[in-house]
Amino acid sequence: MNRVLLIHGSPRGERSHSRRLAEGFVQRYLEARPGAALRRRELGRAWVPAVSEAWVAAAFHPISTPRPPHMQADLALSDELIDELLGHDLLVISTPMYNFSVPSGLKAWVDQVVRFHRTVDMLMQDGALTYRPLVHGKRALIVTTRGGHGFGPGGDNEAMNHADPWLRTALGFIGIEDVQVVAAEGDEDNAEVFAAEYARAEAELAALATGW
Ligand SMILES: Cc1cc2nc3c(=O)[nH]c(=O)nc-3n(C[C@H](O)[C@H](O)[C@H](O)COP(=O)(O)O)c2cc1C
Repeated sequence: MNRVLLIHGSPRGERSHSRRLAEGFVQRYLEARPGAALRRRELGRAWVPAVSEAWVAAAFHPISTPRPPHMQADLALSDELIDELLGHDLLVISTPMYNFSVPSGLKAWVDQVVRFHRTVDMLMQDGALTYRPLVHGKRALIVTTRGGHGFGPGGDNEAMNHADPWLRTALGFIGIEDVQVVAAEGDEDNAEVFAAEYARAEAELAALATGW
């Protein structure tokens, strides 16, 4: 797990809690593994477009027929993002919860990288439609922060959390099933409570950075 792709979903820079936590993890992770390499992909402060009608037509073009150049151009960014994902072993995603889900840049990235014949295949088996993931041998870490409370496993608001559980589903769909989630909750609440929560998440990440 020596090639790390760090993806930031928050539009905030230094003030972003999820970004700071993930950067701290990566720093420790790289210190513990001399020779490991890091690449960053910015989704919160840079524009990744939503998929378009032309994108959908190109992505679902019959595999038996070569894509014309304009379709190749429509998928160029998607290809770049998929190549980047496939070229790394550990995917670290930092993201806030936004309206019970993730910021739109991160959603757009997922739509760009979950693609038939590149990261997942769709096939008929015994008359039934099945999906076969095409991404192998990778791990992911989701570092997330939330303004409110109770969105984690067993929490009162767990059913409203469509952020990290959804990300886990989308990553699993393409074959990334070894996924850890570290969350800190309550930054819109009492500062002291959040400081303790942040410190707990930091400690969890520090243990993962050396022991994972
Ligand atoms: C547009 C927007 C939507 C948000 N929606 C939620 C939400 O649904 N649930 C929640 O607990 N916090 C929500 N928050 C608060 C953020 O999740 C929280 O402040 C988070 O820690 C911000 O992450 P960052 O510091 O990495 O930017 C929202 C914040 C913004 C700006």
